[in-house]
Amino acid sequence: MHRIAIIADIHANLFALEAVIDDLERRDVDEVMVAGDLVGRGPQGNAVIHRIQELGWSSVRGNHEDYLLSFYHGDIPDSWRHDEQWAASRWMADELDAAAVTYIESLPFSRRSKLDSTVEVFHGSPNSHSEGIGHWTPQSRLREFLDTIDGSVLVCAHTHRPLTFKIDAGLVVNVGSVGLPFNGDWRAQYAILQGHRDQWEASFHRIPYPRQQFLDLYQSSGFLSQGAITAKLLHYEVRHARPFLVPFLKWVELTDRTPRSEHLADFIEVYDPAESMATFLEKTRRTSQRSSPS
Ligand SMILES: [Fe+2]
Repeated sequence: MHRIAIIADIHANLFALEAVIDDLERRDVDEVMVAGDLVGRGPQGNAVIHRIQELGWSSVRGNHEDYLLSFYHGDIPDSWRHDEQWAASRWMADELDAAAVTYIESLPFSRRSKLDSTVEVFHGSPNSHSEGIGHWTPQSRLREFLDTIDGSVLVCAHTHRPLTFKIDAGLVVNVGSVGLPFNGDWRAQYAILQGHRDQWEASFHRIPYPRQQFLDLYQSSGFLSQGAITAKLLHYEVRHARPFLVPFLKWVELTDRTPRSEHLADFIEVYDPAESMATFLEKTRRTSQRSSPS
């Protein structure tokens, strides 16, 4: 019988990571794996990478690792070098040191557990690190994924919402997010797999951390002011444990605005983080159709 903890989507939040490390010290786990997105969407990317390296926990690459590497190497469209929308990404890429960049560049797309090769960890899906597996994923697609990995347990993250599916003899586990959950509960979330061969089950854990200290660091590090509109939206995400950045970007597109701070107050007035993004966008579409001249 093995116990494997999988943590993911730390998103440059060292306070949440430290709370999970403390919690894991009290639990009897044989291996800890990291399912990507150590960095991005937060001000402590460098510190998080060095802490994971120090612990020797194996990790895979998330979409935010690739994303920050593009900024670090300047492999980005010209407008991203000065547009307000990308100020936070520029700040986060600047914050990384050379050792952190080397580490990120070494991360593989997927990884099998050292203890049991039937457990394979991805950030998104076996198809892409930007494809989220969630309640919307059809069973046929989940079966395809399990066939692809040739194992019985597929572990993933990316959506920041924990869940698990049992498909025939297989198990798909989305472990949720340590640093930036989107399920309305701000606590650091992760999963522990327990079992062996094709007999596995998952338990989910939620750990409080000093969130206000993390929010204060948004201010004191300069991330909130220099990261402009995106950092302000991320600050809302940490407070509400709900998505703000993507809904804002879709809202500005639908209402013919630009993704700039001057539109934040209008967005906050109409956006209800408790409702689904689909409902919010549908409402926005209806309102903008009514207000546009016929
Ligand atoms: Fe993420």
